[in-house]
Amino acid sequence: MIQLNNVKKRFSDTGPWITDGVSLIIPDGQMTCIIGKSGEGKSVLLKQIIGLIKPTEGSILIDGVDITALSGKAAEEVFHKVGYVFQFAALLDSLNVFENIGLPLLENGIPEDEVLPIVKEKLELVDLAPADTLYKYPSELSGGMRKRVGLARTLVTNPKIVLYDEPTTGLDPITTRIVHELITSMQKRLNLTSVVISHDLEIFKYVDNVALLYDRKIQYFGSAKTIWECDNPYVYQFIRGLTTGPIQTDMDPQIKKSLSL
Ligand SMILES: Nc1ncnc2c1ncn2[C@@H]1O[C@H](COP(=O)(O)OP(=O)(O)OP(=O)(O)O)[C@@H](O)[C@H]1O
Ligand SMILES: [Mg+2]
Repeated sequence: MIQLNNVKKRFSDTGPWITDGVSLIIPDGQMTCIIGKSGEGKSVLLKQIIGLIKPTEGSILIDGVDITALSGKAAEEVFHKVGYVFQFAALLDSLNVFENIGLPLLENGIPEDEVLPIVKEKLELVDLAPADTLYKYPSELSGGMRKRVGLARTLVTNPKIVLYDEPTTGLDPITTRIVHELITSMQKRLNLTSVVISHDLEIFKYVDNVALLYDRKIQYFGSAKTIWECDNPYVYQFIRGLTTGPIQTDMDPQIKKSLSL
């Protein structure tokens, strides 16, 4: 379980708060997506879960361990459980697919002949044929294939928790669906705890929970199954692509009622 308690972040003592009191529980073995408009702080939030950015205030617990207070070996142990698929998941252009995926293992001194079967297994997991792809360079792959290689690279260390930052950005609708299906099938086969940041509302079909980040806080957390009937005004506006700014109150009598207007 990942638990964020009142997480606040700003990048300098006088700078603006990027998040100002984010509290969120991400359940094990499920997929949770975080939605919110561009610049709202979604990537910064995810980077705090992986320890790349330290919160200014608040705590983040992974399986009960506060990662904000960890360093050295203890930190390594916890972060080993977590895999991260970066926004615009870039592969290293000068390395082939085998080297890109196997890099974390090769860097740890594991010999190539031991890394090879692991890389092949991960390629198969993301539905790529090792024989066709192992020794290709990123420039020889399609956008969809590059995303798959990026996913395989994240899985190479067998993480229990996988965080995806915009895994389908820049993909056409068909490839987007294929990537979503792939993420879901990996989720089920490996019983992962997944967190997906997405702009793509199609993601609701695949995830269990939706968290909406707005105005520096999580304004809503609930089931993805009922998200289109959700009467939370922030969710209502966001998923219908309504303009930001003041919350519209003439949209639905039920919402009006809930806002006591
Ligand atoms: N290292 C940093 N130093 C200073 N400010 C930063 C840093 N990283 C992010 N920010 C600021 O934090 C805010 C949130 O950025 P973030 O990348 O998390 O947004 P986002 O919700 O992921 O947006 P998008 O949907 O466009 O990816 C932005 O105003 C950004 O400029
Ligand atoms: Mg982002």
